[in-house]
Amino acid sequence: MAWIQRLRLSRIYPSSWTGCFHGSVCRGLSVTSANAAVQKLVPNEYDGPSVKTPIPGPRSQELIAKLDAITKNSGTVQYFVDFKASLGNYLVDVDGNRLLDLFMQISSIPIGYNHPAVIDVLKSSDNLHAMVNRPALGVFPGETFPDMLDQAFMQCAPKGLTKVQPMMCGACSNENAIKQAFLTYRRKKRGGPATQEEMDSCVTGKEPGCPPYTVLSFTGSFHGRTLGCLSMTNSKPIFRLDFPSLGWPVAPFPRLNYPLEDFVSENKAEESRCLQEVIRSIEENKVRGRDVAAVIVEPIQGEGGDNLASADFFRQLQAICKEHGVALVLDEVQTGCGTSGHFWAHEAWGLPEPPDFVTFSKKMLSGGYYFKDEFAVDAPSRIFNTWMGDPPKLLMLGAIIKVIQEMDLVGQARESGQYMMDGIKDLQARYPQHLSRARGMGTHIAVDGKDTESAAKIASLVREKGVIMGLSGKQSIRFRPALVFQPHHADICLERFDDVLASL
Ligand SMILES: Cc1ncc(COP(=O)(O)O)c(C=O)c1O
Repeated sequence: MAWIQRLRLSRIYPSSWTGCFHGSVCRGLSVTSANAAVQKLVPNEYDGPSVKTPIPGPRSQELIAKLDAITKNSGTVQYFVDFKASLGNYLVDVDGNRLLDLFMQISSIPIGYNHPAVIDVLKSSDNLHAMVNRPALGVFPGETFPDMLDQAFMQCAPKGLTKVQPMMCGACSNENAIKQAFLTYRRKKRGGPATQEEMDSCVTGKEPGCPPYTVLSFTGSFHGRTLGCLSMTNSKPIFRLDFPSLGWPVAPFPRLNYPLEDFVSENKAEESRCLQEVIRSIEENKVRGRDVAAVIVEPIQGEGGDNLASADFFRQLQAICKEHGVALVLDEVQTGCGTSGHFWAHEAWGLPEPPDFVTFSKKMLSGGYYFKDEFAVDAPSRIFNTWMGDPPKLLMLGAIIKVIQEMDLVGQARESGQYMMDGIKDLQARYPQHLSRARGMGTHIAVDGKDTESAAKIASLVREKGVIMGLSGKQSIRFRPALVFQPHHADICLERFDDVLASL
């Protein structure tokens, strides 16, 4: 096997976490199937998966029926989770199946289930009132709100971005970031206060108060499902069918060939083609009075099928935006918070200056966006909603950021990601009839199945063996583990993945 066990002692948790907070599952060091001691990053974590019933099991099926009777919208539910019993990298379902989770609630649990540092925050009586009283943060914030923002968001802010706006979810963050980009674009263009005609016309959605400005997005993108975001979400028909569209421009996102080292000139030409289309679209829309005020892009397209582009592509994209006075909005909702092996995926590109906006949610627990000073709003109530964030999430995130920094979990994602990628490439080399295009950054990894059905079948068979993997795009199998994912977890996944591939 390529993935032999390694003794890992570099990141050790504080002794205060080792008390049993979790009922009957306390253990110390684990002994894995390969008989090597492994230092677990999450104290008392389970030793491996255990599958007792078909999934969904009988209790899940019962609950799915119950849910459907209430919502008539339960078609996406796979099974119900026992969140009390889930721990670290392991999800336990309501039928008692224990699954190694490499998908982590669609990439949104940063340091594993029931992490003691997060539980401590919620147990603290000092934090009780932040949970009991949900404030309208834009009007009546609590005394500690600025400190919460500092401890949660500013401790991990992308270099050069000193301002942040909390929001509710990923879509809400993107919606408001592009609104702020529109405001700034209009303010610069107008060069003075709004006219009476603009004030009168905007109330019913007419020009000149509501200018026909646009945002350019890319093929394969996913930026959320609110009506505004849908006009920038181009990955699958199911997201957009039957909904009106703002008709904003879309440029092609590069489709790279793998392995990268064998297709250097082809991939460069592909990226150049896409960038030329960006320029053409910005210029053409300007002539039509439909100025592109912002370009929005994911560092790695997630829902669209784990599509990557080179650092050079993004550097050139930033240069194009700058030259044309267009804001660059990086949607790091899925790539942010360490999963790429950098805290923010764009840190890997060596951009000559910070992006104009970086949006986030998922592993950051709270939505929001960072922005450059020049994009700050110039009047109250332009960017606003009732809640504008959620204080308990900020308290939890503050504790999570501390753990990530103290245990260097971003470095861990780099190391575990490399280990996992080596294993995936090894499987790809041994099963070329089933797998292709292994790719990724850090633990943000994907590999393609032969087609849609084949990828789904593999994920389903691997789940029967106790490991959760995700799917994305047309035929990609994607991995989005927590930052406490370690090589011994990769071993478990790779062994079961190997068994399934051998059985096909
Ligand atoms: C890159 C990206 N942007 C935005 C979103 C939307 O986030 P939310 O589902 O929290 O609205 C997602 C969700 O998957 C995403 O992956």
